[in-house]
Amino acid sequence: IAELDQTARSILIENDQGGYTVPTKGLYPYQWNWDSVFVALGFATFDQDRAWREIEMLFEGQWHDGMVPHILFRKDDPSYFPGPSVWGTSGGQIPSSGHSQPPVAATVIRDLVEADTSGKSEDRAAALFPNLMAWHRWFLAYRDPEGEGLLAVIHPWESGRDNLPDWDDALRAVEVKDIGPYERKDTSHVDPAMRPHKEDYDRYLSIMAACRKVGWDPAEVARTCPFFVADPGVTFIFLRACRDLLVLAERLGKDTDADEIRGWITRLERGAKILWQDNLQAHVALDRRSGKHTNGISSASFLALYAGLADQQTLTALCGHFDRISDKVRYLMPSYDPDHESYEPLRYWRGPVWAMINYMIARGFAEIGDGVRADKLRRDTASLIETNGFAEYFSPETGAGAGGGTFSWTAAIWLTWAS
Ligand code: DGY
Repeated sequence: IAELDQTARSILIENDQGGYTVPTKGLYPYQWNWDSVFVALGFATFDQDRAWREIEMLFEGQWHDGMVPHILFRKDDPSYFPGPSVWGTSGGQIPSSGHSQPPVAATVIRDLVEADTSGKSEDRAAALFPNLMAWHRWFLAYRDPEGEGLLAVIHPWESGRDNLPDWDDALRAVEVKDIGPYERKDTSHVDPAMRPHKEDYDRYLSIMAACRKVGWDPAEVARTCPFFVADPGVTFIFLRACRDLLVLAERLGKDTDADEIRGWITRLERGAKILWQDNLQAHVALDRRSGKHTNGISSASFLALYAGLADQQTLTALCGHFDRISDKVRYLMPSYDPDHESYEPLRYWRGPVWAMINYMIARGFAEIGDGVRADKLRRDTASLIETNGFAEYFSPETGAGAGGGTFSWTAAIWLTWAS
C-alpha cells in the first residue's frame, strides 16, 4: 500500500507542468478544470502550497464575465483536438475552451482551509473568494437564465460526463453543420471502443461552431445554443459548492455575500425538485429545448445526498437503487444504470466507474450517517486501483482499467480518500 501511495505521488509529480497538472500525458495535455481541483486534494496530502497553486493557476484563466473554462491551453500541443483555434474564444487572459465544467472548487477550497491549522490557507481562500463568487454568479445567470434553480450545460463536455446516455436525444437533435473535415486525436491515444463515436464528435463540434458564431456571448449562448440540458451532476455539485462557499463567507466575515448565497441555496433546493422523476424514483436530466426528462439513472443521481438533499423519499429511493446496482455489478458505482439498455461497461461515461464520483457519492452517504454504503464505495475504489492501477476509469464488471493511464485524479483520490 505504501508503494501505491508513492506511485500516486509520482503520477501527480510527473503530470505537473509547473504549478498545474495535466490529467494524463497524450490524451489530455492541458489544464482541465475539475481534474485540477481534485488534483489539489491529492497534493494537499503531501504539499499544501502546491495544492493551492493548482487552484490559483486555474483561476488565472477565469473569464472577465466570471466563467472558469473547462480547459486552459497554456501552450500549444498538437496531440490534442480540438485546440484553441477551433474554440476561437477571447474571454480571458489565457487561451481556453468556451464553456465551464462541474464547479467543485468552493468545496475543495473549504476542505483545504479546514485541513490547515497554520492559518495561511485562510488568506489564500480570501484572495480567491471574489473569484468564486463571480463564477457562481455566472452559472446562475447563464445556465439558469429563468431563475428556476437548476443548471443546464451547453455542451456534453461542460457536464464533465461527455458521452452519458442522458445527452443522446438532445445531441441527436443538434444539426451537424459548420464543421468541415477534422481529425480526432483521442482515438490515437485510447482504444476507440472506450471513446465517443464519430457521430457524437460531429455534434460536439457543431455546438462549438454555433457558440463561436455568437462570439461565446453567454446570454446569446443560453438563448440560442442548440444543446441546453439541465444536469443533475452540475446542479448537485454546484448546490454542494454553494453550501461550502457559504461556510467560507461566514468564516471570512462576508455578510452580504453570505446573504446572497443563502438565496442561491433556496433557489437550487426548489429547482432540484424539477429534476425528480416519480417513475424512476431519481433526479435525472431535463432537456430544456424539448422539455423532456431523460429515462435513466446515472451516478449523478446519487449526488443528491452530497448536495444535502436527504429528504426521506430521496434517501429511500437512492438506497434502493444503490443496493440493486450493487447486486448487479462487482464494483460500484457504474456511471450509468446497468439495467438500462444504453449501459456499456467500457465506454467512457456510459457505464465505467470513476474514482472521483465514488468519492463524492460516498461523502454524501457518510454525511447522512450511512457508513456502510460509504465504505463499500471506498473499498471498491481501493480495490480497483490496487488491482488495475491508476486508470482513467474502470469496468464495473471486471474491474479492468480503461481510457488513459497514470491518471492524475485517480491518483489524487487514492491519496486523499481510498488508500
Ligand atoms: C475530451 O477531449 O474528450 C474531453 O473530455 C473534453 O473535455
